[in-house]
Amino acid sequence: MMNRELSMEFVRVTEAAAIASARGVGRGDKNGIDQLAVDAMRKMFDTVNISGTVVIGEGEMDEAPMLYIGEHVGAGGPEVDIAVDPVEGTNLVAKGQPGAIAVIAIAPKGCLLHAPDMYMDKIAVGPRAKGCINIDDPVSANLERVGDLTVVALDRPRHRKIIEEVRAAGARIRLISDGDVDPIINAGIEGTGIHMYIGRGGAPEGVLAAAGLKCLGGDMQARLCPENEEQEERCHKMGISDVKQILTIDDLVKGDDVMFTASGITNCDLLHGVNFFGNGARTHTISMRYATGTVRFVDAVHTFDRSNINIKL
Ligand code: FBP
Repeated sequence: MMNRELSMEFVRVTEAAAIASARGVGRGDKNGIDQLAVDAMRKMFDTVNISGTVVIGEGEMDEAPMLYIGEHVGAGGPEVDIAVDPVEGTNLVAKGQPGAIAVIAIAPKGCLLHAPDMYMDKIAVGPRAKGCINIDDPVSANLERVGDLTVVALDRPRHRKIIEEVRAAGARIRLISDGDVDPIINAGIEGTGIHMYIGRGGAPEGVLAAAGLKCLGGDMQARLCPENEEQEERCHKMGISDVKQILTIDDLVKGDDVMFTASGITNCDLLHGVNFFGNGARTHTISMRYATGTVRFVDAVHTFDRSNINIKL
């Protein structure tokens, strides 16, 4: 079992990424924002007592200088798999829009699906609807089993049919422009007004979301969507032999020892975005451990200049 003290260390990791990238809110520079977050996250990881391998990261080794797939991070300790998205929703940060988070998931070695950077079909619900979803069923059948609900989907032409089916079934729908980890986590928490996520998005984001939703007792099914032979080959290389296989939440995140941490960069339904003031910043983070089911919201004030401490709430 991973030491529970690590959960606070992981909070520091997403806090650092969120503060760094929040400096670029609204500046339109997607790559610059990502770079700031990657640097900050990478640096903080190296202070944590783990022997981590990035299994979901910024790309293959030749595409990304840091937090690339296969990179080792940490100061030494238990061997763990690490999934990172230093900025989930780079477009949102670039445009100063809500819904962007810095997010990581950590599990013992071999427990996180090594999902390649491609699309994945996903359907996700909260604990009340556990066992009621089947990704192969028509949307209407899934909606019927789950009951009166609001569905979230990415606003993409590829989702036209899904959107029509949700509307025809009489359910409410919230279309988002980017960032599908946040709504999947919301679906796991009662009172957020979100009951289901459905549609095609990034596979890496799918594993990250599954880690969070698993901690919350929710349910998810997914299927990788390789678009050509090269992508299929990548799935095989990453140990996925049957690319058409339905991936359950326990296939995406195996075992009973996963931690999930996300900090708001811009405001989200669940988390405040980073707030800068004079010589500091305030961050808001959700930290979850599957082993105990504890969900912590960490509201932190960070001081940049020790000679002038001036905390503002
Ligand atoms: P980034 O964090 O890489 O900007 O991805 C944002 C995102 O909206 C994900 O949340 C989502 O899964 C994916 O992109 C959707 O992909 P696309 O924009 O190609 O439809």
